[in-house]
Amino acid sequence: MGYKVAVVGATGNVGREMLSILDERGFPADEVVALASRRSQGTEVSFGDKTLKVKPLDQHDFHDTDICLMSAGGEVSKQWSPKIGAQGCVVIDNSSAFRYDQDVPLIVPEVNADAVSGFTKKNIIANPNCSTAQLVVALKPLHDFATIKRVVVSTYQSVSGAGKEGMDELFQQSRAVFVADPVERKKFTKRIAFNVIPHIDVFMEDGSTKEEWKVMVETKKMLDPKIKVTCTAVRVPVFIGHSEAVNIEFDKPITADEARDILRQAPGCLVIDKHEDGGYITPYESAGEDATYISRIREDQTLENGLNIWVVSDNLRKGAALNTVQIAELLVNRGLLKQKHAA
Ligand SMILES: NC(=O)c1ccc[n+]([C@@H]2O[C@H](COP(=O)([O-])OP(=O)(O)OC[C@H]3O[C@@H](n4cnc5c(N)ncnc54)[C@H](OP(=O)(O)O)[C@@H]3O)[C@@H](O)[C@H]2O)c1
Repeated sequence: MGYKVAVVGATGNVGREMLSILDERGFPADEVVALASRRSQGTEVSFGDKTLKVKPLDQHDFHDTDICLMSAGGEVSKQWSPKIGAQGCVVIDNSSAFRYDQDVPLIVPEVNADAVSGFTKKNIIANPNCSTAQLVVALKPLHDFATIKRVVVSTYQSVSGAGKEGMDELFQQSRAVFVADPVERKKFTKRIAFNVIPHIDVFMEDGSTKEEWKVMVETKKMLDPKIKVTCTAVRVPVFIGHSEAVNIEFDKPITADEARDILRQAPGCLVIDKHEDGGYITPYESAGEDATYISRIREDQTLENGLNIWVVSDNLRKGAALNTVQIAELLVNRGLLKQKHAA
């Protein structure tokens, strides 16, 4: 007998990807319910070779639902996740609403799987920010070899990280440039077509953005509170796939060859690192793939015990939907997910 699974935000970029990943990986579900806002009532979404009719979230009774994969933004999550959790349904939330709550584990299975058991306080588990997820997958095996003291990360984040509206805006603006129409701006603060924008999420008091703050705080929560992290987060005109240039300072020497060997064996990582034309990964190639790719591994000659690496992953998969489904699998594999409904 399998589980009853609800996907909230099933019409969105991440929700659609969740449905395909649940199917691809054969998650033990007897029933999958697709939920979104009332606007999408009756819309059809694909689940493997089946089609699901989308139902409104506010009309769904979670009493016999075992697990809810939530991907409908922070405000919806704040309103609904505690209520759903209180009905005995475990929520895995993609928004930032509960990531910094001490009673909610923030999980990347390759990094801190054991922390998942803490979910019972609220019945909520948080999925990290897309940039943090791929970053910690690459940092964890290196940190196990030589303690990381400081990380400087610059992100190159695709427009799909801003939802389906972000993808539409890049498409529409690019088209407008080619046909000499006026370029209209809605979602992003400046034109994104043929441009880059050094601003994601709101500004904080110290001049950094919330996205940059999230990368710092979430890395500390999942990997090690002693690591110093500083980030510059930039939106780039790429549809899918986030890239990161990462400078890492360790407490002891680590060569580029050692790092390459460690990362080759690390769960979730795939090293593509040839010192030749095209011997590295780009975000275009990461789209639709599960791996966190690492390229351009080299020693930083300006720093004692320093390395530079280039990290790329599909933000809708490892950065969101895949990681969520992996957390659900972790609960199943550890016997932590109870079935509520009768066979
Ligand atoms: N994209 C990424 O790379 C990424 C990575 C990590 C985390 N996340 C997080 O995942 C969440 C979703 O992101 P996304 O990229 O999939 O956004 P999206 O493409 O804009 O989709 C948003 C989804 O939320 C639903 N929704 C909105 N208001 C709702 C309501 N009141 N009740 C029920 N459903 C509602 C929408 O349904 P309708 O179609 O009915 O409006 C849609 O299905 C966000 O919290 C985001 O921060 C995204």
